[in-house]
Amino acid sequence: MLDAPIADQVSVRAARRLRGELTLPGDKSISHRALLLALLADGESRITGAGDGRDVRATAGVASALGARITRVGGDAHTRGARTVDYQVVSPGRTHLVEPASILDCQNSGTTFRLVAGILAGVPAFGILDGDASVRRRPMGRVAAPLRAMGAAIAGRADATLAPFAITGSASLRAIEHASPVPSAQVKSCVLLAGLAATGTTIVRETLQTRDHTERMLRARGVQVGTELLADGSAIHTVAGPSTVRPLDERVPGDVSGAAFWLVAAAIHPDANLLIRNVGTNPTRRGIIDLLRRMGADIEERPVGTGAGGASGEPIADLAVRSSSLHGIDVDPAEVAGAIDEIPILCVAAAVASGRSRIRGVGELRNKESDRVAGIVAGLAALGARVRADGDVIEIEGGRALRGVAVASHDDHRLAMAFAVAGLIAVGETLVGQAGAAEVSYPGFFDDLERVRA
Ligand code: S3P
Repeated sequence: MLDAPIADQVSVRAARRLRGELTLPGDKSISHRALLLALLADGESRITGAGDGRDVRATAGVASALGARITRVGGDAHTRGARTVDYQVVSPGRTHLVEPASILDCQNSGTTFRLVAGILAGVPAFGILDGDASVRRRPMGRVAAPLRAMGAAIAGRADATLAPFAITGSASLRAIEHASPVPSAQVKSCVLLAGLAATGTTIVRETLQTRDHTERMLRARGVQVGTELLADGSAIHTVAGPSTVRPLDERVPGDVSGAAFWLVAAAIHPDANLLIRNVGTNPTRRGIIDLLRRMGADIEERPVGTGAGGASGEPIADLAVRSSSLHGIDVDPAEVAGAIDEIPILCVAAAVASGRSRIRGVGELRNKESDRVAGIVAGLAALGARVRADGDVIEIEGGRALRGVAVASHDDHRLAMAFAVAGLIAVGETLVGQAGAAEVSYPGFFDDLERVRA
């Protein structure tokens, strides 16, 4: 049973101690890309250790509707709550994708929506992309604008600034130079994927470098992708089109965004010692590790040998984390991109740390699965923290003992898991609302929570 519901509200009580070893779900960002690049490649690709949350399964569904034959293989193929799954993908390749017979349902996954929009733009077919209420609230004009400039026809709500989208693609797009208005790996990836079907060199400029999985994975599959990092922290990426993506077997590292919850849980708990295995430590994703260390967290990083990081060469490490005495820090806007999904759990650490923390440049968090600035501020305040948001700055006066209450996670997986971690040190009972949302990125999260406190 893959989709058995888990309780909507989960009760978490303070843990006496935290011990054990954790194996994480496969990295969500890399899993999406491994499936979609396997769809674009003509032939067979194998993916080992993919994440098996609802988001990645949505991508697998969309890829199969576009013509890939996708088989779940390996021991965990039919286990609910498995951390990972292996896939075999056989595809006719980018130039032979099929027109989808029905609506492509991205569910809760903005990544699926935006990356698949880039793929559909380069396919001479008609496709409708849609998602759940959260996806329908999120800004999609940021991908419609460049794809229209490249020659795709896109209709959507509010002049294609909101989902659903109806896309009529073209096999010969125009290469463009696009300056992304917000630093976003999803926008960058969308335009680079469309660039595979364009004639000439497509250029994407971003004001801050965002996660680079798409660039690494395209290069490993034989596509010419250039990246220039400038002194001011901005980046310029190029892709030569039209281009063929070669099939490749990929091993997906453990999700550093999932590791973040255990790093904070152990660092803020007075009696904790956890070992987290096989965590992806890509420089564009590892912000949370470095920020927590700056707060005084005792995190030991033991790199796992080369080759472990799969065909795209992602760095991997085991992380050992122990009880720590944390202090507040200032987080600069330039540091937010490398920890964008981890800001909510970082706020939990800041609420407990001594002294004040200021996290600047968090505006994009309002456009995630929920308004994460509003959600984390309201939830932490209910738990007794001194926290406020002003525009795109979150300020936290740490050092307050948290007390358990009912907190709403707004159906947002990262908020649900962040509040559950707060519950491990709060006095009394913390009731995490819409806790089932955790299954979006971390199936089995609450099982792991029970295990490490046992
Ligand atoms: C992702 C990029 C980020 C991140 C999301 C996954 C990706 O979004 O928040 O969870 O896989 O490219 P943005 O690129 O919109 O910041």
